[in-house]
Amino acid sequence: MRKIRLFSLLFLTAACGFIPAFSQESIVVSTSETALCFRAEPGKKLIQTYFGERLNSAAEYETATTGFDAFPTFGGKAIGEAALRVVHQDGNTSSELVYESHTVTADGDVVTTQINLYDPAYPVQVKLFFIAYQKSNLIEQYMEISHTEKKGVVLYDFASSYLTLAAQNYFLTEFHGDWAQEMQMEEQQLYYGTKKIESRAGVRSNQYAHACFLLSENDKAQETSGNVLAGQLEWPGSWEMRFEMDQLGNMHIICGMNPYASQYKLPQKTVFKTPALLFTYSTSGTGTVTRRFHRWAKEYGIHDGERTRLTLLNNWEATYFKFNEDILKGIIEDAADMGFELFLLDDGWFGNKYPRNNDHQGLGDWETNHEKLPNGLGCLVKEATDKGIQFGIWLEPEMINPKSELYEKHPDWVITQPGREIDTQRHQMILDLTNPKVQDYVFSVVDKTMQENPGIAYIKWDCNRFMTNAASPYLKPELQSHLFIEYTRGLFNVLDRVREKYPDTHMMLCSGGGGRIDYATLRYFDEFWISDNTDALERIFIQWGTTYFFPAMALASHVSVVPNHYTGRITPLKFRFDVAMSAKLGMDLQPKDMSEEDKQFAKNAIQEYYGIRDIVQQGDLYRLLSPYKSRRTAMMYVTEDQNKAVVFSYLLKKTINGERTPLVLQGLDPDKHYTLKEINKDPKQYSWFSPLEGKTFSGDYLMKYGLRFTMYNEYDSKVILLEAQ
Ligand code: DGJ
Repeated sequence: MRKIRLFSLLFLTAACGFIPAFSQESIVVSTSETALCFRAEPGKKLIQTYFGERLNSAAEYETATTGFDAFPTFGGKAIGEAALRVVHQDGNTSSELVYESHTVTADGDVVTTQINLYDPAYPVQVKLFFIAYQKSNLIEQYMEISHTEKKGVVLYDFASSYLTLAAQNYFLTEFHGDWAQEMQMEEQQLYYGTKKIESRAGVRSNQYAHACFLLSENDKAQETSGNVLAGQLEWPGSWEMRFEMDQLGNMHIICGMNPYASQYKLPQKTVFKTPALLFTYSTSGTGTVTRRFHRWAKEYGIHDGERTRLTLLNNWEATYFKFNEDILKGIIEDAADMGFELFLLDDGWFGNKYPRNNDHQGLGDWETNHEKLPNGLGCLVKEATDKGIQFGIWLEPEMINPKSELYEKHPDWVITQPGREIDTQRHQMILDLTNPKVQDYVFSVVDKTMQENPGIAYIKWDCNRFMTNAASPYLKPELQSHLFIEYTRGLFNVLDRVREKYPDTHMMLCSGGGGRIDYATLRYFDEFWISDNTDALERIFIQWGTTYFFPAMALASHVSVVPNHYTGRITPLKFRFDVAMSAKLGMDLQPKDMSEEDKQFAKNAIQEYYGIRDIVQQGDLYRLLSPYKSRRTAMMYVTEDQNKAVVFSYLLKKTINGERTPLVLQGLDPDKHYTLKEINKDPKQYSWFSPLEGKTFSGDYLMKYGLRFTMYNEYDSKVILLEAQ
């Protein structure tokens, strides 16, 4: 019997279905360009022998002489970071895992490898799962643990994944932030010891840091070259990512739910499943990372990834809480007239005993406010439909103001430590989703709103605080440390029900801006709100970081007023549109406050967006000039057939003599010829692009010589459409 079995062989022998594995020594998890290999001998530790670019000759995976424990446990001979730490019923704090068997299941593009491990001294089974997406070159790794120790075990560490790299140097890019400052990129070299990025927030767990990383080998991460490992943890609860450089210079990457204050008492015969780390290993820089994530997301990671995302007008910055039926009808009329496809009614439409006229009260009381909207939501849905656009509604069903009828009825439904002062954020508390009754209630908020107002096409699901003072009135005292994990599982139960009943409703994931974005949650959502910060300049940075992992089709980007409500910055309307058009275009302002000239510009811009929407929403993203490195920033999208592309270029700072850095394009077909056209022009301004207007160049020329035109003024922007002849 052959010692090695490779995916390619398996794929030939069974295109689809379950394949029992023979006794063997190598397991190869591979995609079309990456391989992750293990040495597996029954009764011995599982060893990672290879991780990197796929080899030409599969037989050579077997020749690896070095190796690393594939899933280290606490209590063995090693003292490094552990992936698993279990305390057994007899108090033994150690675990050992050895290989038992594995299976490989292929289903078209998706190949799942399951490796079964066990503890020789205790009845504990661990299964490692690797789901390899062949075309997009991404792999999901997660772990399941179960046991038959009668009195149960306690899990103290329970990583989803453990990977090891061996290189000369390592550079970590993290994506940190805060409210209105999401996805800020910071790169640093890692040295010996452990660097940890994490969230302890429980809910809205990306408030200060996003569960994403780039780890570049040898040198700083580059866009078009170099080896980079990139990962995103599919979990909206507390998470952690540990990067441990050992004394020999190897880098171990351990990701999963955050075990902080979350020790988990696991009863016998119960499976504890961890979320997946979604990762890719690129040998051609971070651009490849991004395109792989985006393509994967559209096929697997985001709800209805093929569907065109709608343009919309949101009334949040237009009115905040101050509106009534007439004001909204006016906005709906303007939205339709300007060419938007949907009107989204934000916060403030509910609450009667405690009208939601500010954020101090009413959250939880999901009945239309009679004073503001005497004819109910239905009348607004009808108004929108009559005007030819769709209607969307804002909900924040997981949260509650203490000043609400819901709190008066169910004070035992909120998360708070008994005997401690209530700790609110934005005057609100979190409903205890570990409680099935609360899950029913949260589902009913969505269901009731949808049933009572047929025709609602879109839901914005908000979540404006993280967990502090964290205790569940529902969980037993000895299970309080399960709260962070069970809350998230409760949320998924609700979302499963929502999606089962409302599969076609467009849903936006929002969390006080971008406080909750990950690929477990996005499977339920069509798009997300990345930041409350609508200042176009700041957005360039926020969107730049976000699109490393998440596609522009899902990234809602809205034009708002100037001076910007958050920063006071004044930028031209064209600049604001050009930034929003590089993602999913929307607007967050009162059209009545616009001049006729601006309105006309906006109408035209929306039509221009429809002309490039498919390229932006379904195309491949290429980053050309980073805003972190130069005054001029640029990126482009290219359709899969390379027939169309659109380039966005922005000038962040005025330059007296003109900014001339060439835009060396990427992703085109060198043999095709592309005609250039500037779109969304400002008729009042001379365009320094004019000499190139209507000209045709080969893809080869554009990707070597590039587009060369000067930009002078702060917040100058250009959108260039390329069409193959
Ligand atoms: C936070 C969101 O990010 C905003 O867009 C808006 O919906 C407010 N919440 C409403 O309270």
